[in-house]
Amino acid sequence: MEERIVSAVRQEEDLVEASLRPRSLREYVGQTRLKESLAIYIQAARERGEQLDHVLLHGPPGLGKTTLAHIIANELGVGIRTTSGPAIERPGDMVAILTNLEDREVLFIDEIHRLNRTAEEALYPAMEDFMFDWVAGKGPSARTYRVQLPKFTLIGATTRAGLITSPLRDRFGISARLEYYSHGEVREVVERSSRLLGIAIDAEGATEVGRRSRGTPRVANRLLRRLRDYAQVRANGVITAGVAREGLAMLEVDELGLDRVDIRLLRTMVEKYAGGPVGLDTLATAISDEAQTVEDVYEPFLIQIGFIKRTSRGRVVTGPAYEHLGIPRPASGQMNLW
Ligand SMILES: Nc1ncnc2c1ncn2[C@@H]1O[C@H](COP(=O)(O)OP(=O)(O)OP(=O)(O)O)[C@@H](O)[C@H]1O
Ligand SMILES: [Mg+2]
Repeated sequence: MEERIVSAVRQEEDLVEASLRPRSLREYVGQTRLKESLAIYIQAARERGEQLDHVLLHGPPGLGKTTLAHIIANELGVGIRTTSGPAIERPGDMVAILTNLEDREVLFIDEIHRLNRTAEEALYPAMEDFMFDWVAGKGPSARTYRVQLPKFTLIGATTRAGLITSPLRDRFGISARLEYYSHGEVREVVERSSRLLGIAIDAEGATEVGRRSRGTPRVANRLLRRLRDYAQVRANGVITAGVAREGLAMLEVDELGLDRVDIRLLRTMVEKYAGGPVGLDTLATAISDEAQTVEDVYEPFLIQIGFIKRTSRGRVVTGPAYEHLGIPRPASGQMNLW
């Protein structure tokens, strides 16, 4: 995958990013309604001295799912163990993790949609009754043991809620979708991160970065750090609106936060497929990328801003996208119906 400056996908475990993670609900910008309800559930569980219901967090990359999982554990005043769907290969891995938990602790499973079937099925009784059915041996001598587990809270995160099977989904008492942040909220993230990293940025500069970060805190933090370099070398170190605009132009991030890949995707749809409908796989092949990346990473934001629509026959480009590209819309007779 081409390295993208506006990529919301984690490239590697990033120390700076970790240092920017808010640690409490109060510090966590945006997602207001979700924070409000979580605060209530957390307080109620604390007062009763019980574990919190299992929580499923879903939404596009970089919106703060992992951050929120840590905050929940923190606010509950309990420990958190983290693993990920693909890391759990055999039922033995699962039992080792579950039996090592303490009462009321949080088990965070990232990319929970990638759990294999056996691991997922082992989770059902664990989530429901805090029981684990453990089969020892093979063939006629195999015996099943029931292991009592601590009363834990499972927090699952996924960018692909659609891939979670319904038996798994039904076992989460709390399910929350993280939404893209407003420009003002991203701007708050930018101001907070600048303070923490000692970056000089003025109000207009923060507004500009807030507007161009695709509603995504991870993108905002990444752009901020690139702009700091730009401001240091090409300006007097302060990120003003002008410096932000020049720096973002150099990074080929446009006024809406779209980068080369987004533009190439839209142009391909317009130029090769007359604006669509075009199937996901065809589109992915045309831009030499994977269908899953197109669906999880590029498309959600383009759909969010209304540049692409999903139809039963494939993806179509909308009028505002034509305008943004500066390409005249086909006359209505030729325009594909959507
Ligand atoms: N609400 C927020 N307020 C302030 N900063 C945030 C917020 N949400 C996310 N961030 C910042 O954005 C970064 C990315 O967030 P996080 O890693 O939690 O995203 P994610 O949803 O888990 O992404 P992925 O799907 O790729 O795992 C964090 O390191 C944090 O610094
Ligand atoms: Mg994450």
